[in-house]
Amino acid sequence: MNKLIDNLGREISYLRVSITDRCNYSCIYCKPEEQFEFIPHEEILRYEEIVEIIEEAVNLGVTKVRITGGEPLARKGVVDFIKKLKEIKKLEDISLTTNGFFLSEYAEKLKDAGLNRVNISLDSLQEEKYKRITRGGSLEKALKGIDSALKAGLLPIKINTVLIRGINDDEVEDFVRLTLGRPLNIRFIEFMLSGEELKDNYRDKFISVLEIKESLAEKYSFRPIDINSGNGPAKYYQIKGGQGTIGFITALSQHFCKTCNRIRLTSEGKLRPCLFSNIEIDIKRAIRNTKADDKIIRSKIIRNNIGEAISIKPEGHRLNEKFSNRDSFKMSKIGG
Ligand code: 5AD
Repeated sequence: MNKLIDNLGREISYLRVSITDRCNYSCIYCKPEEQFEFIPHEEILRYEEIVEIIEEAVNLGVTKVRITGGEPLARKGVVDFIKKLKEIKKLEDISLTTNGFFLSEYAEKLKDAGLNRVNISLDSLQEEKYKRITRGGSLEKALKGIDSALKAGLLPIKINTVLIRGINDDEVEDFVRLTLGRPLNIRFIEFMLSGEELKDNYRDKFISVLEIKESLAEKYSFRPIDINSGNGPAKYYQIKGGQGTIGFITALSQHFCKTCNRIRLTSEGKLRPCLFSNIEIDIKRAIRNTKADDKIIRSKIIRNNIGEAISIKPEGHRLNEKFSNRDSFKMSKIGG
């Protein structure tokens, strides 16, 4: 079995694939309110191109793929695309991150197509606040989406909650209680500067999730637990008697670059070895410049591009160093 190892000895087994830069939400921490320019349709990778890249990545050693966006369920043809991925033999895990809006309509079909599991973004349990954070989203739809995912067995279900001081930090215990009666895995995520709106008062809005964890631990009795979903960045805990878990993703207060096992493919066809670095490899140009029937050459070019992206993977993000004045980056285009 092949393995992809970078220059620092990290094994790269996880590819995150953004299939669209478009999203029906404009979350305050993710996407600027004013419409930014969407990538023109012809510049977005076609599904066949994405499948081709994923096949090569899997041949090189990738075993897990996560489909992201924008909002991946907003792109037409996503179910058939998942079916194609399911045909890739050595691909062990196919997951998808969604805001949940279209999920009740898709959960069953996605499961049948071969999707293993979903992560769902959910930043408030209060209708009005949810609307404000997502700029127009529907809490009701997201909750229905979660129910449908549970019913369809897209497990383990992870709920992503980006904590923002003064906005949703008063709901932490409500989220924790969601794990008692149902097998939901809530992940509190440290807010990283990305959305334009919060740029000026970012410092005031940031909360260390370790702080949250400590205050929860005073009230609830936690035990560490392994939910068997790879070596991702969250550490999980379970409350006594609970069915789900609580996870903490400390991108800033305790970064996990040393064990980073991932690279990203953007919808525009760039390989991005680190979420926070602008270094990218233009794999789309490489494949579009090669004839479609030149299978051997295409395969070689794709592999070379993947190899190159991995060879320039940075040692770590430097968010803390640039904490106060770094430019915001387009999270919604890269897929988190
Ligand atoms: N900070 C932290 N997490 C973010 N996400 C998107 N933008 C940010 C941000 N600025 C996360 C959301 C979403 C996932 C794809 O990325 O939790 O679920």
